[in-house]
Amino acid sequence: MSAPNKQFDPVEVTPLHPDEVARMRDEALGAIAQAGDLEELKQVRLAHLGDRSPLALANKEIGALPPQARKDAGQRVGAARRDVTAVLEERQQVLEAERDERVLVEETVDVTLPWDRRPRGARHPLTTIQERVGDVFVAMGWEIAEGPEAEAEWLNFDALNIGPDHPARTMQDTFFVESEDSGVVLRTHTSPVQARTMLSRKPPIYVICPGRTFRTDELDATHTPVFSQVEGLAVDEGLTMANLKGALDHFASAMFGDGITTRLRPSYFPFTEPSAEMDLQCFVCRGDSVGNPDRPCRTCSSEGWIEWGGCGMVNPRVLVACGVDPDRYTGFAFGMGLERTLMFRHGIEDMHDMVEGDIRFAAAFGMEI
Ligand code: PHE
Repeated sequence: MSAPNKQFDPVEVTPLHPDEVARMRDEALGAIAQAGDLEELKQVRLAHLGDRSPLALANKEIGALPPQARKDAGQRVGAARRDVTAVLEERQQVLEAERDERVLVEETVDVTLPWDRRPRGARHPLTTIQERVGDVFVAMGWEIAEGPEAEAEWLNFDALNIGPDHPARTMQDTFFVESEDSGVVLRTHTSPVQARTMLSRKPPIYVICPGRTFRTDELDATHTPVFSQVEGLAVDEGLTMANLKGALDHFASAMFGDGITTRLRPSYFPFTEPSAEMDLQCFVCRGDSVGNPDRPCRTCSSEGWIEWGGCGMVNPRVLVACGVDPDRYTGFAFGMGLERTLMFRHGIEDMHDMVEGDIRFAAAFGMEI
């Protein structure tokens, strides 16, 4: 309470003087007009209508006045506070409307923008082609066999008639696990699965084994130290090269379409006898570049044929090493590179694309599952 107070003269109680009340009201109205946003208005409300605001303090002085003066001062202060409250409410509404409008603009969601920004990923084409190969053979009643990538040297070489002096056994081609005499290698081909299969089950055997293989090659456009093969093995009574050719021709047309022309070209593998390379007629020039210097073909070097993989009749020495009676059974085997298959099938020119793991490469194969 302000003092001294001549109790009977409200006009002399400074905060209740009409001019003073008007000044407080005008000051409040000015502050309200100045408030630029709701936060500022909140401060104005506290300062001019709160418990410690000049008008509230003035209001407290009223109680000490005699009845008539009290009424008079009460009306004055009350009117001032009502004015301030009304203008403040009005301002509040204006500022709220402004805020709502701004928020509507700022927080607008453009529902036409793409929502699926994160690429969904894609299965690697090597995986899908591997499964496709599996499907082709499973449809013919074959089974899928598996073997380890870190393989016993004996199964990778000796059991397959690759003697200790064979060039494939030198350090040049083979990744050894730990030391060269550890007896464990990263398999250089899927052919040890032939041996594993014959050692673990009785003929008739019809299996394919797709899987990763390793050789100490530098990565370049046509080589990679980690690659994939699919091995096929059939052991049964009376199998001949004709059966081999039939199975491979079916495989080729399942991969590259009907009408693909193939040929078997004599070759050598220690674990097959006779052995052959399976060639495909060049799918780019279809043989037209042969003897036709005006239209050379880069894909087949104008030879008309491209090599797909090796094959042959299982060498009886391998049958014996794996416990199969060579007088009763014959077998055929083949091994195709899956990267090469993918390259031919989809016109991929550089091995790097297949191994570098760039999602854009896999995504280009789209929805293939
Ligand atoms: N294993 C051979 C290679 O890696 C391919 C092959 C498999 C050849 C089966 C004949 C029979 O080159």
